[in-house]
Amino acid sequence: MIVVTGATGNVGRALVDRLVAAGRPVRALTRDPQRAGLPAGAEVVRFRRDDPAALFTGATQLFLYAQAAGDRPGELLRAAREAGVRHVVLLSSAIIAEGADGTHPIHVMHATVERAIRDSGLEWTFLRPGGFATNALQWAPQIRTGDTVRGVFAGARSAPIHEDDMAAVAERALLDPGHAGAVYRLTGPEATTNAEQVAAIGRALGRELTFVEVPPEEAGPDLFPHVPPGMLQSFRAAVGATPEINDTVEKITGAPARTFTHWAEDHRNDFQPPATA
Ligand SMILES: NC(=O)c1ccc[n+]([C@@H]2O[C@H](COP(=O)([O-])OP(=O)(O)OC[C@H]3O[C@@H](n4cnc5c(N)ncnc54)[C@H](OP(=O)(O)O)[C@@H]3O)[C@@H](O)[C@H]2O)c1
Repeated sequence: MIVVTGATGNVGRALVDRLVAAGRPVRALTRDPQRAGLPAGAEVVRFRRDDPAALFTGATQLFLYAQAAGDRPGELLRAAREAGVRHVVLLSSAIIAEGADGTHPIHVMHATVERAIRDSGLEWTFLRPGGFATNALQWAPQIRTGDTVRGVFAGARSAPIHEDDMAAVAERALLDPGHAGAVYRLTGPEATTNAEQVAAIGRALGRELTFVEVPPEEAGPDLFPHVPPGMLQSFRAAVGATPEINDTVEKITGAPARTFTHWAEDHRNDFQPPATA
């Protein structure tokens, strides 16, 4: 049995779909099973911290989100180990790198969980992806209602990675031998700017979209409801930068990482206006 935390998340859901399709027993954890919309082939279980042992009964492997590990990851990991889990695959972050700012909140969150896993006695594999292609969903509310996208840092460059490419790497790390103790930095195949991503979404929709740059100090919570104030400024460093690009996805899965254009085509429906009755 493979336990998947974050099973309703971008990566977790894609992984559950893959494991179900591969005929593997999967326990999909979510805080709200009623709203989860997970496939019938998965055992859907409510994620709760007060009885972690119950989450892991009969399980041998765990796919872990840092958010699910929580502030005291050692407790969850101990419960997993005592129940028979042997190997954990962590969705970590590329922010963990030589010379990184170890005080950045995203660094702290992932580094804390990585440390707890190394101390847990479990076998582990760390996935450290860079920027997700799904970050482009931040523009979906604007694109559903018009052809102009207001956003920060039009020229910020990244190599966005498709959520299903991360899930494919996780699937191999869980199902194949030889991934224990590995740290995989994962990226998409090519660099794109924010403005180029908006244009690619427009092409997928058959529309011409225009990116209008807004200074970060003028970008209020209506534009960035999920980004803590202050963190927007830290994205400035990506303007004109050369993002890390590697072929780790292809090396592990045998298929090249998908482009942002491919992602936009896969997600066309997320940007369409709601159908009128
Ligand atoms: N976005 C990026 O560019 C980027 C880059 C590198 C790393 N990351 C990391 O990747 C992760 C985000 O991945 P994603 O986009 O697949 O996630 P997502 O779509 O935002 O979904 C988050 C998932 O985590 C679960 N979750 C959230 N808080 C939880 C909690 N307190 N306890 C238990 N479960 C909780 C949610 O489950 P329920 O609500 O169903 O319970 C949900 O399934 C984060 O850890 C982030 O730091 C992101």
